[in-house]
Amino acid sequence: MSSDRASHWETIYRTKADDQVSWFQQTPEPSLTLLALAGATTDMAVVDVGAGASHLVDTLIGQGYDDVTVLDISQAALDADRARLGPDADRITWICSDVTAWQPSRSYDIWHDRAAFHFLTDAADQGAYAAVLTRTLKAGGHAIIGTFAPDGPEKCSGLPIIRHDADSIGNLLGGSFTLIDTRRHEHMTPWGTVQRFQFSTFRKQH
Ligand SMILES: C[S@@+](CC[C@H](N)C(=O)[O-])C[C@H]1O[C@@H](n2cnc3c(N)ncnc32)[C@H](O)[C@@H]1O
Repeated sequence: MSSDRASHWETIYRTKADDQVSWFQQTPEPSLTLLALAGATTDMAVVDVGAGASHLVDTLIGQGYDDVTVLDISQAALDADRARLGPDADRITWICSDVTAWQPSRSYDIWHDRAAFHFLTDAADQGAYAAVLTRTLKAGGHAIIGTFAPDGPEKCSGLPIIRHDADSIGNLLGGSFTLIDTRRHEHMTPWGTVQRFQFSTFRKQH
């Protein structure tokens, strides 16, 4: 299962430029707005889970964040990020892992995930995701999770996904998290179609 997943994403990132995929955005919104809402500051530890070739990391580095981790299941995606960032790539911690198998040895203030969690369609994977998030986020830290909304597309990158709202994510994360914000977002793909997302931000209480 996990190796099928990895090979799907490896093929995507080995064969497509970053702006040839439906999820490409030049400016990572509403992620930047939600980081500000969560009170993120440049000295905080941030992990972008399922970051792919997202330019969020470029913006964070440009703003002066100095503890940024980029995790993706695809080494090709991380290679593309490194090539794009040039010397700044050395300021990032790069992790190639399936998030459901990730065993982080440290904690983070901010967990950001745009359009990775929704690929986890079975309960075991969703549980593993919730467990690693719970383990690795500091008390008082924030998780920002963007997925296709209940009226969004049924597939992403040709794969089945689960469409979510704040309640469905909150139920999967469990009682340690309090919802502080949820909003809808209409993403315009590079070819001009609209994809309806939701972004929910949770604070970890304990
Ligand atoms: C739709 S793309 C979104 C990429 C990026 N977050 C963005 O907003 O541009 C989904 C990303 O999640 C990654 N991904 C999918 N399943 C994953 C998993 N189980 N563990 C880690 N990364 C995963 C893929 O490689 C891909 O980069």
